[in-house]
Amino acid sequence: MKQKGEKIAMLTAYDYVTAKMVDQVGVPLILVGDSLGMVMLGYESTIPVTMEEMLHHTRAVVRGTQGALVVGDMPFMTYHASIAEALHNAARFIQEGGAQAVKLEGGRTVAETVRRLVECGIPVMGHIGLTPQSIHQLGGFKVRGKGVEEARKMLDDALALQDAGAFAVVLECVPAALSGLITRKLEIPTIGIGAGAECDGQVQVISDILGLYTDFLPKHAKRYAELAGEMKTAIAGYMAEVKSVSFPTSKQSYTMDESLLASLGD
Ligand code: KIV
Repeated sequence: MKQKGEKIAMLTAYDYVTAKMVDQVGVPLILVGDSLGMVMLGYESTIPVTMEEMLHHTRAVVRGTQGALVVGDMPFMTYHASIAEALHNAARFIQEGGAQAVKLEGGRTVAETVRRLVECGIPVMGHIGLTPQSIHQLGGFKVRGKGVEEARKMLDDALALQDAGAFAVVLECVPAALSGLITRKLEIPTIGIGAGAECDGQVQVISDILGLYTDFLPKHAKRYAELAGEMKTAIAGYMAEVKSVSFPTSKQSYTMDESLLASLGD
């Protein structure tokens, strides 16, 4: 798609029903992001997310997907302690989760791990810029790469990931001009989130674009629907009808020969 100049749309999904919709629309890449922790599980960051939680949701997404490539996001500290541990956990995404690729955060520091995973047949997507798993070190959810040193390092990280065999790289919260430069320098696609229009593709958290997660809306996200409001209206409608006994009606009820009730002492 990069070679053809065709932009790549990627979305997160965390469950069977949503993955099925995303897949049916024809989105080619689905990320089971560790954003799961915040938008589905109610954690304050992605850091508490475990392998078991990720695998549980990856399996559900895979069951709902026929055409899209499913990428499983490796959680905090599941690929740092050793390459052996990274291999073990990445393999679980493929073997137990059914994903076709994994994503991990970091640049040159994880390049050897990426190389080994790729050598073992596991496609890897990189993720640089704002890397939420390092939020305590980065000091918050801030744009990365505004200064020349950080910008140079980001380009170096992107090239190191490409050299290690990554098939694509996510650029998160990166100035648009820097993303454009990185995109031009790389042969593999860049997938931006808060990284401007020059990236080869875009990724968004589905709960943001559907208006399902309302705790906050990142600057880089755009709402394409307000589903939380619609869902609350539906839930309130249901509650009101239960209270007023307008639900259920005969349409939602089952019948029997009521003369039998007499023999039951009615
Ligand atoms: O976890 C996630 O959803 C992500 C995207 C924001 C790229 O990593």
